Amino acid sequence: MKVLSITVFLMIFLSQAGNVAMAQMPEDLTEKKITEIISQMTLEEKVGQMTQITLQAVSKKQGTAKSKHEIDRAKLEEAIVKYNVGSILNVYDVAHELDYWHELITMIQDIALNKSRMKIPVIYGIDAIHGANYTMGATLFPQSLALASTWNRDLAAASGKITTIEAKASGIPWNFNPVMDLGRQVLWPRLWETYGEDVYLASQLGDSYIRASHAQGNFATCLKHYVGYSFPINGLDRTPAWISERMLREYFLPPFETGLKAGAKTVMINSSEVDGIPGHANYHLLTEVLKEELKFDGFTVSDWEDIIRLYTRDKVAASPKDAVRIAVMAGVDMSMVPYDFSFFNYLVELVKEGTVPLSRIDDAVRRILRVKFQTGLFENAYPDKSLKNSFATPESKEINLRSAEESVVLLKNKNNILPLKKGQKILVTGPTANMLSVLNGGWTITWQGNEESLYPQEHETVLEAVQRLAGADMVSYSPGSSFDKAGNTGDALKLAENSDVIVLCLGEPPYCETPGNISDLTLPAAQIEFAEKMIATGKPVVVVMLQGRPRLINGIAAAAAGLVNAFLPGMEGGTAIARVLFGEVNPSGKLPVTYPAAPNGITLYDHKPIESGQDQSGYKPLYPFGFGLSYTEFAYSGLKISSKEISMGQNLTVSVDVTNKGKVTGKEVVQLYLTDLVGSVTRPNKQLKGFEKVELKPGETKTVTFTITDEHMSFIGQKNKRITEPGDFKVTVGGMEAGFTLKN
Ligand code: BGC
Repeated sequence: MKVLSITVFLMIFLSQAGNVAMAQMPEDLTEKKITEIISQMTLEEKVGQMTQITLQAVSKKQGTAKSKHEIDRAKLEEAIVKYNVGSILNVYDVAHELDYWHELITMIQDIALNKSRMKIPVIYGIDAIHGANYTMGATLFPQSLALASTWNRDLAAASGKITTIEAKASGIPWNFNPVMDLGRQVLWPRLWETYGEDVYLASQLGDSYIRASHAQGNFATCLKHYVGYSFPINGLDRTPAWISERMLREYFLPPFETGLKAGAKTVMINSSEVDGIPGHANYHLLTEVLKEELKFDGFTVSDWEDIIRLYTRDKVAASPKDAVRIAVMAGVDMSMVPYDFSFFNYLVELVKEGTVPLSRIDDAVRRILRVKFQTGLFENAYPDKSLKNSFATPESKEINLRSAEESVVLLKNKNNILPLKKGQKILVTGPTANMLSVLNGGWTITWQGNEESLYPQEHETVLEAVQRLAGADMVSYSPGSSFDKAGNTGDALKLAENSDVIVLCLGEPPYCETPGNISDLTLPAAQIEFAEKMIATGKPVVVVMLQGRPRLINGIAAAAAGLVNAFLPGMEGGTAIARVLFGEVNPSGKLPVTYPAAPNGITLYDHKPIESGQDQSGYKPLYPFGFGLSYTEFAYSGLKISSKEISMGQNLTVSVDVTNKGKVTGKEVVQLYLTDLVGSVTRPNKQLKGFEKVELKPGETKTVTFTITDEHMSFIGQKNKRITEPGDFKVTVGGMEAGFTLKN
């Protein structure tokens, strides 16, 4: 494999990001053109633009590994010509080959451009969550939570760039990603789709991803799922959140604001409800906050069937038709219906009756057409076949491997059990040891990501990569345990006796959305019991966790010699984990979420003083947010602040020296935390306000500098407005602290 410093590699790679100019007319010209188009459209044509259906609705047959998906041409024509649908999404259960995507998109645009009266191109949308996961053979990155474990903006940007290139190569200009919801409820089965629990980390990584994606030109990202969906009280998917306006603005809204500033032009709506108001019925959040206050001029798209659910599930609408009225008047611009034309029919009726004003329809259509212009669809709606050469290139695979490597978090390394030594006899065991699906999770080839037989076999499982690096004759394997059914451990115990070390791979099977609901964060008993048996052999056990959320593993963590958490590291994850285990890569991942120790210990790192008081459970996680070990040791010294006192509007510079005290080169994430010592609302004990990942050779020292601005010191006050208050602050970096005062 080519050895090129990843920093240099990424610099070259990302510098090409701006090369493709967005096919765009000057803004006022585009707006004029849109006005002209709207003036020629019938009501039905307008409402059609607001309608999005799934590919399943216009298909004859699902595609499988053995038989090809089949489109129903008559239904497709009916959808585009009779109902004027503005958008189609998804696959019929299974990813397509690249060429088939070209065929499909060409067929769709042929009908739109040749058979429909207004000749408005259709915008195809897809969930390219960790790469173009619905195109066979795509580069599939670590899922967002694993990517966040890299704490590396360049890698977030690289994943945005490559995902976009590969979606565009498939002929698709619109990606339902990134998820900018904060991962502050660890039970939630979509935690792994987030960039973790922290406002600043998630915003920074999302920003890098979005900017790199848009730099490819003619492409739209979609911020999901506006807003508060990620914080269900009971941890189950699509269940209520209670988030006051102040807390919403403090925690959940800022990553979306960052995404909008980075140029995101579409926003998907929270499928659930906040404070008793379904996302799709929330006029305040959709219209007053998003469109008016934050000046969002792109369009909002509903989530799957969620307008219908205002009637069938939420009962805020007395009829399916009233559900359409409520949603459109709240600010929903496009409905992911997605199976039929009910939205179209009801909305046409509602406008004719005068219940929904034509001005609201015109506003929604203007927003949708704006994005169709921005994505270059009016210039060329067809797939650019030349992009095939940019699909799944060796360079992309290389960057993906680097991302997976940096996503691995070393949590425990007793007596330096890791790196594994050459010549050791290794037993690899556990339910996640020899599967590719467990490295990838949901949104991989299929929605649930659990069709192991469809995974491209050229990628390595953990077992295969360990066998390659150690030599097959040094490695024995037994699955040992299922995910959740107690049973016989096969020959695992016998094989353990003949081994020097056990690599025990535990975790979760793939899942996505509601099917991933759990009521207990504890790792299933079957795996705990199996781990106990392995530990009881007396052989050193190195545990590898592959999982979408931090399942509780207290006893295992205490008894294991080594513990590696990889969340969902993607298609190169097996290789990456093995390289870390053998020391070919020095681990540099850090937790982007708190790893809880106890079922009721779901306190987050930026907790309030009241949570750490004597009588409270406090912050006693198994491993804290930001934690991760290395095979080398870093020392911090010389913390300096530019002044002990600053005025409002003045920046503060903080610098610190970091030295590699060990014997191998390594990367350290330098983390800056800020504490506002007194505030008119309770302030978190500390908040991340800066981070830099630096690479240091043995003995090398680097100085890292951060700038603290007003914005970093601000918070949402009692009146729900962002304010900055004068007073004393504390800066903490690498165990050192310094204080300063902000004067009026
Ligand atoms: C999910 C969204 C996704 C949409 C389209 C929904 O079930 O909540 O995240 O983008 O489906 O596939």
